[in-house]
Amino acid sequence: MGEATIAQRLVEAVRSDFPDHQPGTRPVHTVGIGVSGTFMASEVAGQFCIAAPFRAAQMPVLVRFSNGSGSPVEHDGWSDVRGMATRFLPGDGAAMDMLAMTLPEFFTPNVDAFLQFTKAAMPQSVERESPWRKLIDMLRLELPLPDPEPGETMNGSAGMMAYANRHGFAGEAVFRAGMIGAPVSYARATYHAVHCFIVTGADGVRRPVRFSWQPVSGVRTTDPTAPAIDRYLHEELRARLAQGSAQFMLMMSVGEGGDALNDPTRPWPAKRTRVAMGMLSLAQVVADQLADCERVGFNPCRLLPGIAVSDDPILRARRDAYEYSQRERGATPCPFAGG
Ligand code: HEM
Repeated sequence: MGEATIAQRLVEAVRSDFPDHQPGTRPVHTVGIGVSGTFMASEVAGQFCIAAPFRAAQMPVLVRFSNGSGSPVEHDGWSDVRGMATRFLPGDGAAMDMLAMTLPEFFTPNVDAFLQFTKAAMPQSVERESPWRKLIDMLRLELPLPDPEPGETMNGSAGMMAYANRHGFAGEAVFRAGMIGAPVSYARATYHAVHCFIVTGADGVRRPVRFSWQPVSGVRTTDPTAPAIDRYLHEELRARLAQGSAQFMLMMSVGEGGDALNDPTRPWPAKRTRVAMGMLSLAQVVADQLADCERVGFNPCRLLPGIAVSDDPILRARRDAYEYSQRERGATPCPFAGG
């Protein structure tokens, strides 16, 4: 047997954090729902990025919303990161993907650290920490352990917290993940593409940018003191779309000198120029969820001329990791862009 590739090691690492993972499914973001709609570029978008999605007036999109967990069991009401994978379809057999999640920063700055992090995040048995213990954690400037969900006996929180307490770079994302809660709707969360990408403007200037989707209906999480409900997000989305479209504004922050271009653990200052790049209007749940959503394979490095990956080592490693995962789970090869 040859040595495992980085892609294989990454996929096996994320899979190892979810012992009930089912072959043939995504190793993370396992439970999801596909919806279709359109993206309409803003008037200024094409000045900042000449990629096809930002020049055309309107184009079809496919979006898959997901819970972050790699467990096949749907626990919508549990505190968890959520995902939003978008495929822009500008026509002529082209496609561009944008993968985003509800955390603005990532846990680690490079692949080696991520492999260590996933080891630390292996599930262990959990108990609710006493208020005294939480207080002691805070006095020691350590992150207190989030309470387990009702019925949850194992999770990776303790390991993640211990990792973040040893490695300052993970603190921001681990702390936010611990407090993130559950959205009342997939259409009521902000999703961040996290990494820096390089866009080329109509003036030929290349700019470092970060993208996020802002929900037009506003952000809202469930009441953390109310009992968590296992399943509601898919039905809520179906009901919402039956009443009208769900919309998101694509915002793009432009990086400046000194900003962390290749480190997804570090936030950019909030005062960076933000450009409204366009409006996403989701119209309906995809009819054939298996063929047109579960078997689809998104990839954050599937881009179009005018937008390129930065030198962020996590982003670059994700290209082959997603392809490996999709081959393993028998996803349909992307019919667009030779993907
Ligand atoms: C080293 C870092 C990472 C690794 C190894 C990793 C790995 C994976 C894998 C293997 C999948 C399943 C792919 C498939 O089978 O289709 C996946 C899905 C996903 N990842 Fe990551 N990921 C990483 C970082 C991130 C980051 C930074 C984000 C946020 C921008 C993200 C967002 C997502 C989303 C939204 C999905 C679900 C995509 C879908 O619905 O098909 N991941 N990830």
